[in-house]
Amino acid sequence: MKKIKNLIDIKDLSLKEINDLIKVANDIITNEDSYKKKCDGKILATLFFEPSTRTRLSFESAMLSLGGNVLGFSEASSSSVSKGESVIDTIQVVGGYSDLIVMRHPKEGAPFVASMKSSVPIINAGDGGHNHPTQTLTDLITISREKGRLDNLVIGLCGDLKFGRTVHSLINAMSRYKGIKFVLISPNELVLPDYVKKELDANNISYVETNDILEYMDELDILYMTRVQKERFFNEDDYVRLKDYYILNKEKLAKAKKDLCIMHPLPRVNEISTEVDDDPRACYFKQARYGKYIRMALILKLLEVK
Ligand code: CP
Repeated sequence: MKKIKNLIDIKDLSLKEINDLIKVANDIITNEDSYKKKCDGKILATLFFEPSTRTRLSFESAMLSLGGNVLGFSEASSSSVSKGESVIDTIQVVGGYSDLIVMRHPKEGAPFVASMKSSVPIINAGDGGHNHPTQTLTDLITISREKGRLDNLVIGLCGDLKFGRTVHSLINAMSRYKGIKFVLISPNELVLPDYVKKELDANNISYVETNDILEYMDELDILYMTRVQKERFFNEDDYVRLKDYYILNKEKLAKAKKDLCIMHPLPRVNEISTEVDDDPRACYFKQARYGKYIRMALILKLLEVK
């Protein structure tokens, strides 16, 4: 039986595969018309057990722009999961209606478990506080286009580094490029988990930790802001205490490099003041746009469309 290629963790892709996806996405951006029939007759299912704007809609837009069709649900309550059906049963059924499944679930590991029973490729669109590999592909194409390289960069990661699945996947991917240094900026309660730090240590990746967003501001090539995620907290008081810990504004950017690239996976709440949106260094809305193109490239790869 032919082995199915899934994307559960960014580690499922080699560096060459990541670089090839970026190349194809860049070609799609330049020649979008020549891709508009590539997935004629193919169906993408989006099964979202947790809310989403960008990931779900960019995948749907990507498949429609490739000439394919989409089906799915955007909340568990509108599926038979609300009647007690298991994720595994849902996946086995939807595999009969589609060629590719994109799945977001609040439980860490749920897309991996689903992939073991699926007859079609599974893409992890975010599993709890664990991984978000297609956000990482979005981040990589953004860095590559905005900075012109994916190596020799000082990358500040700021906010919820404990539960931030986009941060965990991005660290994993960027650690494979040369000359990367991470500045980990978080309150003590939301520091990067030990298992991610161990990977950094094992790969001899340079990093420093600080609570102070200004301490290394003048060294950063990338500043990747993240939201403190209400849905990951068990205690409302902790969330309220930490939610506005970092608010990036014009004043805080005074010492930053002229070519700093400010990123955010979005949604944003308060962590970047809207006054920053007009700064030419603000890349987060461009980043969301690039997400569609890298997902088009990923759909082509997993469906083995030339
Ligand atoms: N970046 C991201 O995952 O956004 P959504 O939650 O809107 O999909």
